[in-house]
Amino acid sequence: MTRAILVTGGATGIGLAVARHFARNGDEVVVTGRRQAPLEAAAKEIGARAVVCDHTDPEAVARLLPQLPDRLDVLVNNAGGQTDFRRSGADGLTPLEVFARDFRANLDANLLSAALTTKAVEDRLTAGGAVVSIGSIAADKGSGSYGAAKAGLASWNLDLARQLGPRDITANVVSPGYIADTEFFGDHLTPERRAHLIESTMLGRPGRPDDIAGAVAFLASPAARDITAQVLNVNGGEHGTR
Ligand SMILES: NC(=O)c1ccc[n+]([C@@H]2O[C@H](COP(=O)([O-])OP(=O)(O)OC[C@H]3O[C@@H](n4cnc5c(N)ncnc54)[C@H](OP(=O)(O)O)[C@@H]3O)[C@@H](O)[C@H]2O)c1
Repeated sequence: MTRAILVTGGATGIGLAVARHFARNGDEVVVTGRRQAPLEAAAKEIGARAVVCDHTDPEAVARLLPQLPDRLDVLVNNAGGQTDFRRSGADGLTPLEVFARDFRANLDANLLSAALTTKAVEDRLTAGGAVVSIGSIAADKGSGSYGAAKAGLASWNLDLARQLGPRDITANVVSPGYIADTEFFGDHLTPERRAHLIESTMLGRPGRPDDIAGAVAFLASPAARDITAQVLNVNGGEHGTR
């Protein structure tokens, strides 16, 4: 059965791997992102449809709606990232104003984006469907406003799962550790830091976007219908649970 899937931030890294997985499966996949060129290139490569959207912007999310299928089987809230890696200068702001701007940027990019997108499409989600949001190991290890946003995402997901459960829709978070082959770090990952991240795992390897795609695919599959309100850690054992 062909399913309708929305993958936010689907042009690069984890989102691209997730979108590719579903497209290969024969599903109808829509990918979004802010930059048109990489988004269209990715969509063409994997056989998806591209729609430019900034998921932190309510007007942009409203403009996205008419371009989506009337019914959605799977929503993957993947758009996000560590906005501190891309922050601008003080722009005449006081230090506290800069702090507030930069803190809000991570909350908007990683928490509001998922909540806003889910709110916009919730009526279109079908029975038997799934919402999967991409969290981070940073939620458990602590990482300033980025980790706080990802921790908030997991908390928000609990309420979402409670709301959607009676409609037979699951809601879960996949929480990656260090994943290579993404644009996440920009030029902020030194060889030493990369080596440390890999040494911190039990498996001694970096995660790959396909590792996350596999976990997302499982949570959106018939095999996972009794799994909801959970965080699935995919981190090579860097952070374990009891
Ligand atoms: N890589 C890791 O080690 C790692 C670890 C833990 C969690 N994560 C999480 O995994 C998710 C995917 O990141 P990634 O590692 O694959 O990095 P990535 O390659 O930078 O992918 C992020 C994607 O999201 C899009 N995006 C960001 N903000 C957006 C917005 N406001 N609206 C629409 N699209 C937006 C970006 O495209 P545009 O810039 O064109 O919008 C980009 O395609 C993120 O939520 C990230 O926090 C990553």
